Amino acid sequence: MKVLGLMGSARRDGNTNDLVDVVLAAAAEQGAQTEKIVLADYRVEHIENCQVCKQRGACVHADDDFDKLMAKVYGCDVFIFGSPVYWYTVSGRLKVFLDRWSCELYKSNDEFCRKMKPKAGGIVTVQEESTYERAASCIEALEKTVKYAPGATYLGYVLGPGGKRGTVLKHEATVAAARELGRKAAAFRPAS
Ligand SMILES: Cc1cc2nc3c(=O)[nH]c(=O)nc-3n(C[C@H](O)[C@H](O)[C@H](O)COP(=O)(O)O)c2cc1C
Repeated sequence: MKVLGLMGSARRDGNTNDLVDVVLAAAAEQGAQTEKIVLADYRVEHIENCQVCKQRGACVHADDDFDKLMAKVYGCDVFIFGSPVYWYTVSGRLKVFLDRWSCELYKSNDEFCRKMKPKAGGIVTVQEESTYERAASCIEALEKTVKYAPGATYLGYVLGPGGKRGTVLKHEATVAAARELGRKAAAFRPAS
């Protein structure tokens, strides 16, 4: 079982990163193989006009890190989106990466769904405000993304307090929920 964290915060040592680490550590304790991708360490260009790529017969951004990252997504069993709430939604880094998933759909939606269907996805997010409603756009967009491929499994979300570094690790209920998500990730088995 391979569990992949996709960490989309600008801060490499912020609360999102801490929460992704908690999920992955709990999954590893249950025997899962884990890997974290810090999106800030990679170059992923914005999506362009897919018609141009179609005419060229290749993506205009073939030289960035997208294919490398996508290979890791295809190679995992469970992926965990980690994003802070930025302006009520997903961080730009994660959004730019997810926009590029459309390159894969453009190549073959059926093939994308075939590869993603056996996987499960979960979400961790942090915010400074304190109600679900303020983070809803972020969580719901990522939930729909997990569920895009019919049959893919959604493992749920964890929403915790952000702000100063270290804040979320002091919040026991959030840490417990993140550990539970990690255990669920490790226990996930695709339907045969
Ligand atoms: C660009 C930006 C936009 C933000 N927008 C929101 C927001 O809409 N709602 C909110 O509650 N917090 C917002 N915050 C606060 C962050 O969600 C919070 O500081 C979080 O802990 C940042 O993630 P990190 O700890 O992983 O760096 C924003 C922070 C930044 C830098």
